[in-house]
Amino acid sequence: MNAKKLVIAIDGPAASGKSTTARLVAERLGYLHVDTGAMYRAITLKVLKFGLKPDDVGNVGRLLTSTRVELQRTNDSVRVLLDGEDVTEGIRTAEVTKAVSAVSQIRQVREAMVREQRKMAEGQGIVLEGRDIGTIVFPKAHLKIFMVANLEARARRRQDELKAKGINANTRLILEEIQERDELDTTRDESPLKRAADAIELDNSNLTINEQVEFVLKKAKRLLEQNEVK
Ligand code: DC
Repeated sequence: MNAKKLVIAIDGPAASGKSTTARLVAERLGYLHVDTGAMYRAITLKVLKFGLKPDDVGNVGRLLTSTRVELQRTNDSVRVLLDGEDVTEGIRTAEVTKAVSAVSQIRQVREAMVREQRKMAEGQGIVLEGRDIGTIVFPKAHLKIFMVANLEARARRRQDELKAKGINANTRLILEEIQERDELDTTRDESPLKRAADAIELDNSNLTINEQVEFVLKKAKRLLEQNEVK
């Protein structure tokens, strides 16, 4: 690994502010931003398109062998490609959100995604966000952040996000959806969401986006100044 290129892992539950933080940190450092949740969502979209049940291990596994998920960097965003088709918006629907926990529990799906994620880090600085980056994908990441926020803050952010897309969602339903996903993500057998022992916990319930980003950047810059980064 190049002495000046860090692998930064940002893990945490749904709607904890990972994506915005990871994207801005990557932008500021000139690194690649990898939203690993988007990769699991893309597979899920294909599973639904093929009319498969999200927990149909055998058929989903077979489908995977002819599926290509890529993240393509453009000037100002990262596009998600599924078998060459841009699905950046299509992976954010309620149907995909509902089914993604089941699909992402399938071992073959995880193995394929983890392999891709490790490949992406070859020779470049990278910020990956997800659930298992610091524990499974890059247990030796230079910097590991575990982001948390209280339920109210997370629900509020999710609601704002939806509102920006013109969707008026019910607060109670949002809270339920977040709690349900927390439960599924933390109790599953395959790579459950948990904080790596050496991750720094960042509770951002009362932080602005800028404060979160600066927190991570400060840690990253300190590491870059040290010559210990290998
Ligand atoms: O971050 P997100 O909400 O877009 O992620 C969608 C789902 O993908 C989430 O419910 C759990 C799963 N996921 C995972 O299992 N491992 C990751 N590294 C990232 C996401």
